[in-house]
Amino acid sequence: MKALTWQGKRQVSVEDVPDPILEEPTDAIVEVTSTAICGSDLHLYEVLGPFMDKGDIIGHEPMGRVVEAGPDSGLSVGQRIVVPFPIACGACWMCERGLVTQCETTQVRKYGSGAALFGYSRLYGSVPGAQAEYLRVPHADFGAITVGDDLDDHRYLFLSDVIPTAWQGVVYADVKEGDTLAVYGLGPIGQMAARIGAHRGANVFAIDPVPERRAMAERHGIATFDYSKEINDEIRDLTEGRGPDAVVDAVGMESHGSPVGWAAHQAVGALPDVVGRKMMEKAGVDRLAALYGAIDLVRRGGTISLSGVYGGEMDPMPMLTMFDKQIQLRMGQANVHSWIDELLPLVEDPDDPLGTEDLVTHRVPLVEAPAMYEKFQKKEDGCIKVVLDPRS
Ligand SMILES: NC(=O)c1ccc[n+]([C@@H]2O[C@H](COP(=O)([O-])OP(=O)(O)OC[C@H]3O[C@@H](n4cnc5c(N)ncnc54)[C@H](O)[C@@H]3O)[C@@H](O)[C@H]2O)c1
Ligand SMILES: [Zn+2]
Ligand SMILES: [Zn+2]
Repeated sequence: MKALTWQGKRQVSVEDVPDPILEEPTDAIVEVTSTAICGSDLHLYEVLGPFMDKGDIIGHEPMGRVVEAGPDSGLSVGQRIVVPFPIACGACWMCERGLVTQCETTQVRKYGSGAALFGYSRLYGSVPGAQAEYLRVPHADFGAITVGDDLDDHRYLFLSDVIPTAWQGVVYADVKEGDTLAVYGLGPIGQMAARIGAHRGANVFAIDPVPERRAMAERHGIATFDYSKEINDEIRDLTEGRGPDAVVDAVGMESHGSPVGWAAHQAVGALPDVVGRKMMEKAGVDRLAALYGAIDLVRRGGTISLSGVYGGEMDPMPMLTMFDKQIQLRMGQANVHSWIDELLPLVEDPDDPLGTEDLVTHRVPLVEAPAMYEKFQKKEDGCIKVVLDPRS
């Protein structure tokens, strides 16, 4: 089959690789009909390179049809499923508590990581990813979300990651009806976090330097701000001088406006693997502009929720300010499976309250993936969310 593979820093290519096969009775093989590129994939493309191996298949946002079902998968051939990005057993102590990204069956202990993830480097188990014609789904008995046949892929696809991630970000931000919420970053995660915040009754302010990303949010009634201006003072003025009750950081480790972290990332990416890996493990610093912005902006006693992925071990944090402002901080990979019961009715609602049909800017054949990675990273051609179609 054809699959999108990692070849080096900012180098990916579509290659012929062996088809996946059933390995465990709970596995299923799915023929992928839609598979998205995520902001998290850009970290693999850029700074997490030292944890990748040449030929690794990337991708973790797929849906499709079951073509082979293991005897204990609970699935049958022909079923249409969405596959969450974390791989979890559904039965361990963590899974029972809804913390599927900490699943004790699939944890990648060698690297001290939580649950295995599809297509997400050695840190998360080197599991073959989903930007491919076929995908092996381990623990499909728990992981597969079965969906009906009537609605388009784009209604359901974002249950694999974007919508539950944004939902968890807003829930962890502890946003109540009538609260004020700021969202840093208007990539797909920030777009959905802003819409979900508004859907749950918050007054939302969203910040991003890219005009077409702000325009998309404005289409959904969100007030937006250009990061490059002095926006924190502006937003404080709109919140009685206090700052918003909560902030979701939907930017993560590759934030703009972080000169020190940027230089470190360039250095790490250019180093030989072993040295680069040690740097990221022992001395890794993230680009922290968005997180620093969030710490400055949130009101005293407010909550910051990190949806954006961070990876450094040596990040300098302004503890004095965080302690003095009495900030509450939550974060983590999304426990996708735990939110599906609440989210499925929203994506199936004929009124499309989360605007799932206004997120994808590019749908292209899988073979065009390498060009789309470049476009998505450089934010060219109005690119906000790319869906690959392995069958066209
Ligand atoms: N927690 C999870 O489970 C989970 C799941 C999916 C994605 N993520 C992470 O969420 C983050 C966003 O993902 P995405 O797909 O939306 O990616 P993206 O790269 O499209 O979005 C990032 C956005 O942040 C903006 N930005 C950069 N610097 C900024 C700054 N200083 N202030 C405000 N905005 C800034 C960029 O212009 C861009 O629009 C990534 O870090 C990704 O890894 C986390
Ligand atoms: Zn993703
Ligand atoms: Zn588990």
